[in-house]
Amino acid sequence: MRLSKRLVWQAENNSWTEMLANTQITHDLTLSNPTEAFDLSGYQEDILAALSHPEALLYNPSPLGLLKTREFLAEVLEIPGGISPCQILLTTSTSEAYSLLFKLLCDPGDEVLVPVPSYPLFEYLAKLENVRIVPYRLEYTHGKGYDIDFSSIEKSISPKTKALVYVHPNNPTGTGASLQEIATLNSLTTSSSLAIIVDEVFSDYWVRRPSSIPSSWWGLVDGPLFVLGGLSKSLLLPQMKLAWTLFHAPSTDLPALTKAIELLGDTYLSPSLPIQLALPSWWKLKPGLTSMVIKRLNENLALLHSLLENSPCRVQTSHGGWSAVIEIPRILSEEDITHHLGKRGVKIYPGYFFDFENEGHLVVSLLTPPASLKSGISILLEVLEEEISKT
Ligand SMILES: Cc1ncc(COP(=O)(O)O)c(C=O)c1O
Repeated sequence: MRLSKRLVWQAENNSWTEMLANTQITHDLTLSNPTEAFDLSGYQEDILAALSHPEALLYNPSPLGLLKTREFLAEVLEIPGGISPCQILLTTSTSEAYSLLFKLLCDPGDEVLVPVPSYPLFEYLAKLENVRIVPYRLEYTHGKGYDIDFSSIEKSISPKTKALVYVHPNNPTGTGASLQEIATLNSLTTSSSLAIIVDEVFSDYWVRRPSSIPSSWWGLVDGPLFVLGGLSKSLLLPQMKLAWTLFHAPSTDLPALTKAIELLGDTYLSPSLPIQLALPSWWKLKPGLTSMVIKRLNENLALLHSLLENSPCRVQTSHGGWSAVIEIPRILSEEDITHHLGKRGVKIYPGYFFDFENEGHLVVSLLTPPASLKSGISILLEVLEEEISKT
């Protein structure tokens, strides 16, 4: 059988998966599935009841997604300046939204700029659309966060570059772009005719956002802009599969852009009707769910800071999101340290999963139950102490 070259990475088996197959994990510091990280039994009845909407029996497809649901989102999403339901596309996930946007903006072989370090799935999503990702640098300053390295963007723009992606707040660094950075990017992308895709799936979780960083990019960009959000993070319902893309373009381009997006949406018509109809009822649960998550994020951040305070490690500055980056001394490679920890029952992500520029980073999920995070980090400190004593 001959398979498409788009799937070149499928046979790869790495030392991480081999290590995990041979260890018993007792402290999973990578747990980011909200349906496992929290006891949601108190919400069960409301979540399930919303699925039995009588209108779900009538098939009434719409290219951008159910109008009623888009109208609802236009009302409840706190969009500065508001948004028309005609500028919202519904998909089953943000991953699907990326695929549609790459189809919309790129021809095979075209390039999309993505931040590094960031979400590892970009590479695979792009490859499946025959698009090449080209990384641009984010540079860390302790006490501030990650800044965009504009020179790395300028150097990377080619005639094939069609779009630039930013994650706000970023996964895993938890940092966002400042108003100043967005303004600079706005002029750069306008002069190069690039679209901007901003992934705002974590934007309900800006736990430490400085005023220089806006909560959303909406309204701050003149050229084509696509802002992504969805159920998986906003309502802790990744299994229900619904995401939204807010799109904007200069008024002269908007009709053609809308037509093209409608064509793409109409080809798949992927979001299911019961889920779209359930959204308004689920939205009522959002305040309770969001505050439960924010409580966990704050508790875990405080825990991390206190555990690592007088240690050779430090927690990187972040503004929000569901993960934290820990800098560790480079006495062991990230691979070795994660393997040592694995042998002691601790699962933690090595920084190289997210393409940090240098060794010496570990990533933890801030959704981890605090007791587990505490034990896992204590074991990390023990392992590091043992290694330091050998040097
Ligand atoms: C930055 C980012 N975007 C998107 C997603 C996935 O969202 P969805 O479930 O809507 O595909 C994730 C998942 O962790 C993510 O980290």
